[in-house]
Amino acid sequence: MSELSKLQASCLFEIEDCDNLKKLEMLRSAIFGKDGRLSGAMKELRNLSDEQKRRHGSEVNELKSLLIERLDEKFRKLEIEELDRKLASEAMDVSMPPRPERFGKLHPLTIVEEEVSDILSSYGFFFADGPDIEEEYFNFTALNMPDHHPARTMHDTFYIHNLANENGRKLLRTHTSPVQIHAMLAHGAPCRFFSIGRVYRSDYDATHTPMFNQIEGLMIDERVGFPHLKWIISDFLRKFFEVKNLRIRFRPSFFPFTEPSAEVDMNYEIKNGRMAFGVGEKWLEVCGCGVVHPNVLKSGNVDNDKYQGVAFGFGLERLTSLKYGIPDLRGYFEADEAWLNVFGFSHYAR
Ligand code: PHE
Repeated sequence: MSELSKLQASCLFEIEDCDNLKKLEMLRSAIFGKDGRLSGAMKELRNLSDEQKRRHGSEVNELKSLLIERLDEKFRKLEIEELDRKLASEAMDVSMPPRPERFGKLHPLTIVEEEVSDILSSYGFFFADGPDIEEEYFNFTALNMPDHHPARTMHDTFYIHNLANENGRKLLRTHTSPVQIHAMLAHGAPCRFFSIGRVYRSDYDATHTPMFNQIEGLMIDERVGFPHLKWIISDFLRKFFEVKNLRIRFRPSFFPFTEPSAEVDMNYEIKNGRMAFGVGEKWLEVCGCGVVHPNVLKSGNVDNDKYQGVAFGFGLERLTSLKYGIPDLRGYFEADEAWLNVFGFSHYAR
């Protein structure tokens, strides 16, 4: 067998034997590359006589065309095989049953937070915030409750005894009203803002949890007073409860940071075991509010000769319970899936 026939036999065998495209390309350069097997045979031509060159040369050329043809054939074959394999591995069985999906639900407080924010934003109120771990100064002193003021005992405060600075002890804020001070100091007057956030009091039974949420509102401008408060709170409650003829009653009350102060009631009656709002002669308290005390404006660096303010506060859980008929306050914070399945909101229902 001549050298050329041996070369042909081994190349054809290897081409036939090759089982993937990458190997085939390596084989192609092993044959046709600069130092490839065929180039060896070409180089040998140089040492031959003209006559031999002609004969041998055409044999080499034939071999070259044969190998190119076989390589290309094999390439197309492997290409189709690889595509088939890829399609098979990516095939999708449309008859397969779907995986059982479990949809989460949104917590009712999340929903009400959004509803409340939407209404208050529509009055031009911006969101403001303050820390949960507050300083005694912001929680009490700046809100017109100096040290030893009896009003401080109205709140069952959680103090953090080993944390204190020049603003007094640190504590878990007992209401969102300290945000009033932070907002005034940050934005100055005039301003309109609301806040929604956690507050803490040492209390626990069916109607009290040690942590709950409050909604705070503050509006400061020249010539702002009780009429603004009455309009905002009435309109807010009517929109929130979606009851146009809701009746609202302002009852004189006391908060150290507002003067005069009031609590707001709305009317309801029990119909078929459910609360119906805007009908009946029973009254339910939903809000604390008042005209901002001049000392509070001073704490917020607001000129209390030029500006007045009004402020109000709601309990977020209370509004939620009333609107959506949720009975026990404690359920809100127990992270109980069964509770959430009953009182939570599906994404799609909104
Ligand atoms: N901060 C008061 C409370 O916790 C509520 C309130 C807010 C009253 C704003 C008046 C003005 O009960």
